Formats: sequence, C-alpha cells, structure tokens
Amino acid sequence: MPGGIDPHTHLAMEFMGTVTIDDFFSGHAAALAGGTTMHIDFVIPVNGNLTAGLESYKQKAANAAMDYGFHMAITKWNDEVAREMEVMVKEHGINSFKFFMAYKGSLMVTDDLLLQGLQKCKSLGALAMVHAENGDAVAEGQQRMIDLGITGPEGHALSRPPILEGEATARAIRLAKFINTPLYVVHVMSIDAMEEIAKAKREGQRVIGEPVVSGLVLDDSWLWNPDFTIASKYVMSPPIREAGHSKALQAALSSGILQLVGTDHCTFNSTQKAFGSDDFRKIPNGVNGLEERMHIIWDSMVETGKISVTDYVRVTSTECAKIFNIYPRKGAILEGSDADIIILNPERSFVMGAHTHHSRSNTNVYEGRKGKGMVEVTISRGRVVWEDGVLNIAPGSGRYVRMLPFGYVFDGIEKSDAAYRASLRAPVQRGKASA
Ligand code: URP
Ligand code: ZN
Ligand code: ZN
Repeated sequence: MPGGIDPHTHLAMEFMGTVTIDDFFSGHAAALAGGTTMHIDFVIPVNGNLTAGLESYKQKAANAAMDYGFHMAITKWNDEVAREMEVMVKEHGINSFKFFMAYKGSLMVTDDLLLQGLQKCKSLGALAMVHAENGDAVAEGQQRMIDLGITGPEGHALSRPPILEGEATARAIRLAKFINTPLYVVHVMSIDAMEEIAKAKREGQRVIGEPVVSGLVLDDSWLWNPDFTIASKYVMSPPIREAGHSKALQAALSSGILQLVGTDHCTFNSTQKAFGSDDFRKIPNGVNGLEERMHIIWDSMVETGKISVTDYVRVTSTECAKIFNIYPRKGAILEGSDADIIILNPERSFVMGAHTHHSRSNTNVYEGRKGKGMVEVTISRGRVVWEDGVLNIAPGSGRYVRMLPFGYVFDGIEKSDAAYRASLRAPVQRGKASA
C-alpha cells in the first residue's frame, strides 16, 4: 500500500510551558516503524510572526528522517500577518492555516480574526483549519471545576464537554459558509461536532472532518483513574469523550462523513504531565499516535469489517494527499509517485506499549493494546527504512514537501460566488427619498 500520511502532528512544539518530547527525528522513527511515510506538522508563529515561526520550524526539522510538510497556525491579526500569509503560500509551499478557537490567553483567536483569516485563506486558495472548542466557555468550565475542588485530570473532561466542541464546530462551519470557503475541522472528538459536519455536508457545504486515533478507539474513563500518571497521559483537547462517541465517529468514518484519520501526535512524558499534578489546567495537552495509527485503524476498522482495504488506503493516505494537493506524488503507488510504500501483514499480531515504541515518551495511551495487522516493511522514497523490526534511518534525510494552493477543494468556488452575487437582486435603483 502507499505509505501512510498523517495530516496532524506536533513535533518539537513549544506548548503549555514545555516542549513535546518527540522531535522530528524520534517522531519520524516512530512514524516509519508504524508505516507512516509523511506527515504535516503545525508551524506556530513566534509572537504572531509567521516568518520567524517558519524559520524556527525549519531548524527543528533539520534532523528529519522522512518527508514532511507544514500547516501554519495564525495567532494574531494585522496587515503584516495577512501579507506573510501570502508569502507563506506563494514562496514557502504552505497551503493551509489553522485557527485555534480554544486555549484562551495563548493560541485562541476571536471570531473577528477567524473571519479575516477565512477571507484571506479563500483569496489565497489555502485551506482554513479549525481547532473547534469555545475557548471562553472552556475557561469558565475550568474555573467551575476548580471552585468545586475538582483539580485532577477528570476536571479536564468535565470542564470542556462535547457541547462546547459542537458549538464551536457549528460556528466555524457557518462562518466558512458565509465566506464561501472550504473548512477543515481537526480532531473531531464528539458526536456533537461530527453531527454539525454531517449536517453541513448534507447541505452541500465543503467541510472536511478529521477524526484522530485516540478519539476513534479510546474513552474518557481513563481520566478517572486513581493513578495520576495513568490518568494524565489521556489529557488532550478536545478531550477524549465518554464511551459511545468513538463508535459513532467510527461509523462516520465508514460512511464518509469524516474523511481522513490523523493522530494529533503531541507527546509529553510523565514528568511533563506532572506539571499539572495539583491543577489539571497545567497538564500539557496531548497524546501519542504516530506509530500506532496505521495498526489501530487496520485492526479496529478493517479487521472488524467496518471499512474495506481500499477505504483504509483512502483514509490513511490518499485523501490527505488529495486535500493538501500533493497527489499523486504522495498517497499513491503510480509511475512518477514517490516510492513511499508499506507492506502490512494482516495475519501478524501486535502488542503496543512504551517498552517497544520508538517515541521518546515513557508512556503510551495504547499501553497493552493487542490487535492484528503489522507493518513489516516501510519504504521511504525507494529506501527500505523498516524491516524485520529494525529501523535504518538517517537524520537529515527527510525532505520538505511544498504544497501548492487551490487544491481540488477549491474547484468551482468561483461559480458559487457568481451564483451568490447574481442572487442578491441588489443594489435596487431608487429615486431620491423625499423628506
Ligand atoms: O491536546 C492537544 N490536542 N494538543 C495539541 C494541540 C492541539 O490542540 O492540536
Ligand atoms: Zn487542536
Ligand atoms: Zn493538534
């Protein structure tokens, strides 16, 4: 099959007072051992400055061992940011921008900024992505839990319930509809958010929903575990939801409501997670998944008969390449494509855990998980990099993949714009109003 492409990772990311434990080398080791041959990471601007953010991520990626691309987060708005967005698209091969509707006081944007950003994305042919949670309400919810004396990891889930994800998803969808630009909703974790996407799609809107592995197979009962080290490793945002949501997300993935699977790989070790041992608001948010994604989706979706092998290739690889306009160079085995290829043995079993994984973290949210379907060989641009349980990778061998704007999700947008303008029946020609 074509190698997996993970549309959503955070390697070497400075976040919540610390830095993710996996950098571009250890993250790539994990990815390649798990059958993923490309990923798209999120550049975080430096004090809102996109150029400085990109420079910093270029340095972070100097030890890359496989191919990667960049999305860029937008965290503040002014004319300079708007100009830099254009430079990112036209000169640096970035064709997607992410807006965080949560993380008040750090990454969160206002509706005003989101509207400006959607407009700019549309004019550049870049895909707007949202982290959809109502950040103001989350801050209220967090204070409510602290006032109730709930300071442990369970407070994380209780303070930001699905309704806040559903609200922000609906708001982002409506604003994207108002601007008439495609929207990509990252880490869809709840039925509430998924149903907003389903409704918008039914109405013909171009909305892409990305579930992540943790949301597809885990439930929030872990957050109530009495051992802080265990409970805190499941803290991510939006939170892993109570049992029932994951099955609904799986069904939505099977039926095409949700289109491609990411990981949101954003790992912190148990020492970093312990920053929040007396206040859940300080637990760095994030879970692992880069190494596990291909195996878990095979085991939980193909092995159980929920999706076909063809759909597996689509949701783990091809769809991502198409959405981000790098198909068929990536996401396919065709003449002229990069030779990113995996061999998965459906008969071979796996057991996951921190003792065998390649991430630098000392914990794993899939600890002890067993299943069937193992990637036995990974080929990255024609080189065998994973075989017989042995990695053969070199720091610096990974290449940056430029992604061009105006991918297929923009096809025909100008026609619906023209239809909208024609429908306005305005301006009405009027004589001077008499006093
Ligand atoms: O908990 C998460 N998701 N951490 C990474 C940052 C983000 O929101 O994507
Ligand atoms: Zn996010
Ligand atoms: Zn993320």
